[in-house]
Amino acid sequence: MFLISYLFLGVICFFVFIFTIYSVYAMFKGAPFVPTNNKSVQKMLELSNLKLGEKMIDLGSGDGRIVFAAAKTGAVCLGLEINPVLCYWSKFKCFLKRSKNVKFKRINFWNYHLGEINVMFIYFIPGKMEQLQQKIMQEMKPGSRIISYSFTFPNWQYQAKDGKIYLYKV
Ligand SMILES: C[S@@+](CC[C@H](N)C(=O)[O-])C[C@H]1O[C@@H](n2cnc3c(N)ncnc32)[C@H](O)[C@@H]1O
Repeated sequence: MFLISYLFLGVICFFVFIFTIYSVYAMFKGAPFVPTNNKSVQKMLELSNLKLGEKMIDLGSGDGRIVFAAAKTGAVCLGLEINPVLCYWSKFKCFLKRSKNVKFKRINFWNYHLGEINVMFIYFIPGKMEQLQQKIMQEMKPGSRIISYSFTFPNWQYQAKDGKIYLYKV
């Protein structure tokens, strides 16, 4: 019985350790893990006007909540996440929910080409918004939409706003 308890504790400690290491890494590569509250997730989806068949992405998908909420529209949904614990947790939920239009990739999103994406969701940090804007302008098609939670791009006028949620069009 003691052996099983120690084994269980060991597994928990391992996951906490990996989660912590990658949380620090994520702060350098993008933003720390801070989940968007569910009310704001709904508002983000409303403002995005995401439709059946469109391709959406959550850049830094955390526990996957935005991706799963977006999947209800019938869009093709992808979450990119650098932290393996969060990514594999989202993949596990995806397996349990049997979601067919949802995928998660463990990747540094700076290395992902955004050319096929119609709607992108972000919850980022102010210091890196300009760098992200350059990537968007180089890779995304005209007419694609970006929904940003909490932060604006420094040199780009948003099209619409709902509280702390901003809609941009390329
Ligand atoms: C502020 S949280 C937002 C989580 C989720 N989008 C939400 O709104 O609930 C930012 C997430 O981005 C991830 N992240 C940060 N930098 C990243 C990068 N370069 N590539 C992929 N994911 C990254 C973090 O691990 C974290 O889960």
